[in-house]
Amino acid sequence: MSDATRTAIVTGGASGLGRAICQRLARDGWHIAICDVNEQGAQETLDLVRQQGGDGCVEQLDVTDFAAWQALRDRLRNQWKQLDLLVNNAGVAGAGEVGEYPIEDWHWMIDVNLWNGIYGCHTFVPWLKENPRGAHIINTASAASFGSLPTMAAYNVTKAGMLALSETLYAELKNAGVGVTVLCPAFFRTNLLNQARFVREEQREMGEKGFATSKMTADDVADAAIRAMQKKQLYVVMPRQARVHWYMKRLMPTRVLNRIASAFRDGVIRI
Ligand SMILES: NC(=O)c1ccc[n+]([C@@H]2O[C@H](COP(=O)([O-])OP(=O)(O)OC[C@H]3O[C@@H](n4cnc5c(N)ncnc54)[C@H](O)[C@@H]3O)[C@@H](O)[C@H]2O)c1
Repeated sequence: MSDATRTAIVTGGASGLGRAICQRLARDGWHIAICDVNEQGAQETLDLVRQQGGDGCVEQLDVTDFAAWQALRDRLRNQWKQLDLLVNNAGVAGAGEVGEYPIEDWHWMIDVNLWNGIYGCHTFVPWLKENPRGAHIINTASAASFGSLPTMAAYNVTKAGMLALSETLYAELKNAGVGVTVLCPAFFRTNLLNQARFVREEQREMGEKGFATSKMTADDVADAAIRAMQKKQLYVVMPRQARVHWYMKRLMPTRVLNRIASAFRDGVIRI
């Protein structure tokens, strides 16, 4: 690897959006540490990356394990001269009303979706700041970070946390030459629902409906993420319908929430 080669860490790189981001970076010749609990999936991503002009390595990483993050940093610091991009993307999903959604599932969701971003940024920000050519962080939140849909409190809380973390970092790191992008997409089809934890079957069906009716793909989101990085743009909210919701929620939050409440019946949000 030459000094000019750009380097990235991508969590959740074995599947879905993480894999799509790895492939998008590969087309520009990036060297990528593909991090996931799913080693076989990460190896498949590495094969795709190599086919598309990039290179990298598979890193078995459970994002909920702080010691594993520190060990990853120590390994990569020995191999790479600098770090250009950190993508905190690993995530899990689920739904259930507050009071019914099990507390152990709240812990699971917060551990994966929010601690992923906190551990990742805490561990790698100092190294990113050392990069003389500037560096970037992409955090995967979701339209759920501002959507406030009933039954999704645990997911919404973690994604709102990722949004707050990203906005704070944007201001904190701007003068240090490290850009921040936060991804807030609505539904797109991936393997996310396979491991998701729902209280009721109808809630899973709503998620499946969201996937089935989405016209957006993981590749669309990955393309938008890399374009935003290149422009040092903070927010990626997509598709257009999600952007409309984003502006309306800011303009008239209670009115929007009352409309959402009227679409919530028998423990299911009917969107
Ligand atoms: N698919 C959607 O509709 C959608 C919409 C908005 C945001 N997102 C977000 O996009 C991100 C990627 O999800 P996806 O849709 O590609 O789903 P996915 O299930 O296809 O990919 C998620 C990846 O994260 C990995 N992962 C899960 N727990 C982990 C852990 N503890 N440590 C390391 N890796 C772990 C999984 O093994 C998997 O490879 C998530 O943060 C998700 O919340 C997805």
